[in-house]
Amino acid sequence: MKYGHFDDVHQEYVITTPKTPLPWINYLGCNEFFSLISNTCGGYTFYKDAKLLRLTRYRYNNVPADINGKYLYIKDGDTVWNPGWQPTKTELDSYECRHGIGYSRFTSSKNGVKASVLSFVPLNDNCEISQLTLTNGSSEDKKLSVFSYVEWCLWNADDDMKNFQRNLSTGEVEVQDSTIYHKTEYRERRNHYAIYSVNTKIDGFDTSRDAFLGAYRGADSPEAVENGKCTNSMASGWSPIASHQINVDLAAGETKTFIFVLGYIENPEDEKWESYGVINKTRAKEMLAKYQTDAQVDEAFAALQAYWKQLLARYTVDSADEKVNRMVNTWNQYQCMVTFNMSRSASYYESGIGRGMGFRDSCQDLLGFVHLIPDRARERIIDIASTQFQDGSAYHQYQPLTKKGNSDIGSGFNDDPLWLIAGTSAYVRETGDTSILTQMVPFDNDMSVAAPLMDHLKRSLDYIINHKGPHNLPLIGRADWNDCLNLNCFSAHPGESFQTFGPSEGPVAESVFIAGMFVKYGEEYAQLCELMGDDTEAARARKEVQAMYDAILKDGWDGDWFVRAYDAYSHKVGSRECREGQIYIEPQGFCVLAGVGVKEGLAEKALNSVKERLDTKYGVMILQPAYTEYHLELGEVSSYPPGYKENAGIFCHNNPWVSIAETVLGRGDRAFEIYRKTCPAYIEDISEIHRTEPYVYSQMVAGKDAKFYGEAKNSWLTGTAAWTFVNISQYILGVYPTHQGLSVDPCIPKGFGDFSITRKFREGIYHIQVKNPQNVEKGVVSMTVDGKAVDGHIIPYEKGKEEYNIVITMG
Ligand code: BGC
Ligand code: NOJ
Repeated sequence: MKYGHFDDVHQEYVITTPKTPLPWINYLGCNEFFSLISNTCGGYTFYKDAKLLRLTRYRYNNVPADINGKYLYIKDGDTVWNPGWQPTKTELDSYECRHGIGYSRFTSSKNGVKASVLSFVPLNDNCEISQLTLTNGSSEDKKLSVFSYVEWCLWNADDDMKNFQRNLSTGEVEVQDSTIYHKTEYRERRNHYAIYSVNTKIDGFDTSRDAFLGAYRGADSPEAVENGKCTNSMASGWSPIASHQINVDLAAGETKTFIFVLGYIENPEDEKWESYGVINKTRAKEMLAKYQTDAQVDEAFAALQAYWKQLLARYTVDSADEKVNRMVNTWNQYQCMVTFNMSRSASYYESGIGRGMGFRDSCQDLLGFVHLIPDRARERIIDIASTQFQDGSAYHQYQPLTKKGNSDIGSGFNDDPLWLIAGTSAYVRETGDTSILTQMVPFDNDMSVAAPLMDHLKRSLDYIINHKGPHNLPLIGRADWNDCLNLNCFSAHPGESFQTFGPSEGPVAESVFIAGMFVKYGEEYAQLCELMGDDTEAARARKEVQAMYDAILKDGWDGDWFVRAYDAYSHKVGSRECREGQIYIEPQGFCVLAGVGVKEGLAEKALNSVKERLDTKYGVMILQPAYTEYHLELGEVSSYPPGYKENAGIFCHNNPWVSIAETVLGRGDRAFEIYRKTCPAYIEDISEIHRTEPYVYSQMVAGKDAKFYGEAKNSWLTGTAAWTFVNISQYILGVYPTHQGLSVDPCIPKGFGDFSITRKFREGIYHIQVKNPQNVEKGVVSMTVDGKAVDGHIIPYEKGKEEYNIVITMG
């Protein structure tokens, strides 16, 4: 069942009922000011950091769901309704929510009045604009009242929901003309305030939540709206809000628009005040002056659309498969950009007060957006590398505002160092910019011990080489990519964090997954060494890679698939010897995509085992059989009920690894089958089962052991976005950046047909046509570049050349 449809022309998902199975959200903002906005106008806004600088209050886990947002109430006689349906839930005569790229548009009607709300964050200002257009489509003149409503968060979202003994006494506001200023804590340690304004004279306002809502009432039935009259309340402590009242006479057929602006203003320390106790509003007024007319709003909106258009134009495909086209050209890349902006901080599943930027997460996210925003990717790499320790290990997370490593969680996740090589290699292959490798980068943010980035990568590699266990496989430390496989943790008491409990870094537990990573990224490191002219170091790295390869085949092979790990007793994890958890997806995907066991015929066996034992109609499960008991020696992985999360869920992040591995073997049908099963556009039809947004990936879909088999959770902020984009764009469609130039070597399902790709790569635009007359799954027989035959399938990069026309023939 569907709750809407894709509009590919406008690059929008059109939701046609407010009653979606879960709130379906969108993100507004590209730089520093962001809003989450659901299909019923729920959500919240923050500046830079979702925890420390949150403008509006949101109630996670609220009943009813998804309450608090930016609400507009329309009072038409005795009927009160909202264009987004919530919070009054008055039945609408029509409803539509269009989530677009960086904006959302709601269009609804009731009793002959049509309301349309366009919300977006303009490119260069720290504000969100909501342009309301009201049209009286009835035959009689109407006297309406519009009420706006936002509830302020007292900035620190964590403190805001805990420290009531203080917070209920600190709230402060000012009101001038049609602007409400939220200035809690401005008097003492803050130099920022928030504003909510409308571009028309108002007929009343409220800034006290209690006055607006009335005793024991919620946002679904504000007393002020019911009475048709705001009370002009001035908040003092308790919960400050911002509500404007605008009385609107709307003749039959008439249309009027109103522009609401929610903004964030920072003042220099010595310009905080206009007069004693009165905040300096100059900057607020300057910003508001830019959004007073529809023409100004139209212009800002057009600029935003142009920005996204040029961004997404960097990789486009035109194939016979409209679902592939829409995911590649729009939604998958868009989600990659959202993971760039949010990392794992703020979604409807990440509360914005928890994890900051993950080391491994951010390095992997980079793989999905490096082609879109190479300059910002460069900066991100430097930020991440600056949190590395001198021995090559790394802080597992860092704070987005300070960019300092987070000592609460510390280090010891032994896959982290290698992801830095992955991200850097992707950046250099994409841009050809080797200057990043010689840039001095601090360790643990201490510039006095800085070293060139290349040296950081060497230490990443050496960390693994110097931390091997009894089988010459990498020690796992606290955990690897699967951070629920806590082999050294032994946590027996509730409340202990699996992620950080105990020393957690024993001398025995080993990871075959990290071994696969080492083979893949050790080779990418060697290529970077060659690029820098250091053949000796490249040879050393390749020797170590070979040793790891051999160790995997010797002790990491279980007969029909790769072993997952060795636990703290040196017992196998993910082996036929185990009662539960006999086979895991991660080493099958990663070892094969790294090329391990291909020539020995083991890779094919491993992938066949995946198909036989882990496949479902909704995707490939992370392990089987699910753990039905808690295993002290395995940790969190066995703490989830069977079928959920890391315990046999379909973890969408590593499905592309297996799909990529299939392309390494040239099996295009199977690679695409795996791609398709978790791809949102293909499962739109089962939205009542899948439940999360049909335009973005979720972290997890419940596996076959779960009660709610097929149900997804944790949409938006997941490494799935980057890896699925890498898979479809670089391996299935086959356009892969190498140091020498773009390689085009597709691996597609039979019957996929011819297709073309336009790809911006360095200074050039590449127009690539792929022909497949023999209907093969893989193989390039010939290539022409600008009409001339070129051997192989790598388009030689020519510095400064702006346009390339390529024809690839498969066969
Ligand atoms: C989740 C993981 C997550 C980890 C770190 C665990 O509870 O299952 O998916 O990576 O927490 O926050
Ligand atoms: C989510 C985390 O963000 C990521 O770092 C981890 O690799 C996966 N869960 C798998 O456990």
